[in-house]
Amino acid sequence: MRVLVTKKIDNKGIDLLRASGHDVEIVTEQNGLSHNALVEKIRLYQPHALISMLTDSIDSEILNASETLAIVANYAVGFNNIDTLTAVQKRIFVTNTPDVLTESVAEFTFALMLAVGRHILPSDEFVKSGSFNGWQPDSYLGIELRGVTLGLLGVGRIGSRVAEIARNGFGMNVCYFDVTRNEALERSTGALFCAKKESVLSNADVISIHVPLTNDTRGMISNKEFQIMKRTAILINTARGPVINESALAEALQAERIAGAGIDVFEYEPEVNALLKTCKNAVLTPHIGSATERARSEMSRLAAENILQAFRGIVPQHAVNTNKKT
Ligand code: DGY
Repeated sequence: MRVLVTKKIDNKGIDLLRASGHDVEIVTEQNGLSHNALVEKIRLYQPHALISMLTDSIDSEILNASETLAIVANYAVGFNNIDTLTAVQKRIFVTNTPDVLTESVAEFTFALMLAVGRHILPSDEFVKSGSFNGWQPDSYLGIELRGVTLGLLGVGRIGSRVAEIARNGFGMNVCYFDVTRNEALERSTGALFCAKKESVLSNADVISIHVPLTNDTRGMISNKEFQIMKRTAILINTARGPVINESALAEALQAERIAGAGIDVFEYEPEVNALLKTCKNAVLTPHIGSATERARSEMSRLAAENILQAFRGIVPQHAVNTNKKT
């Protein structure tokens, strides 16, 4: 069978696929192919499986480009880049890579929280620029996480792990909003369920977003929501950029309507709002939440295993669409 990988990824899964006798072609361009070039490549190569990136828009044109396509294995836990309805109609499996990146993204959430809360970037710049000429009682005063309230929007795998680390590692109080109540999490972390996101936004000292991107979550944080937050609040987003209206965020930061933000994902990625880039109280990172060697290698393995299962005619373990081959 033929497998097309749309960007160079960790070898673990590639080796598994090749060891099982499949042909694997990897797009070598650093930034992958344009949409049109990818459609053309698929038409020519006629893959049975595609390992796609979150940067590929897997729309009906792509899904129709190969007569033989049986599975799209997304190299990510999020799959908002894939037209899953068309995939169902075409009886193409769509899979993702859950669990293996939970720890990396959860830990990175705290990296951003601490970077913003303790002014790590400006103080690094201060030292490197030669401005440090003696300890001061009042320089770069930040916040301690212990005892402050963390408000989570979304407590799936990653949000739940963030809650655990927050409570058990840092001694934070946790409250959360989700469409589904998570009573097990409430028992293990003392997290308080809020039936409305507004209660989380008004009570939390640090707000962290862990929802998938859907029609319901797109733009869920905008001007109105910034008005509700505490002026001292810090907002963290390691989920998907379009959940936040980025110009509203930039304005809120510039006006010091909130105290700071740690942002790993952007509304029009890879474009970043020009005003946001000038905000001194924002730490911006290039969508690297899951970027640990272990997570990326495991993501590669999972993508390959999902493909091997589909090739054997069974529903892949991480199928996210309802396609059941009969
Ligand atoms: C995911 O898996 O959805 C992440 O955003 C990739 O880092």
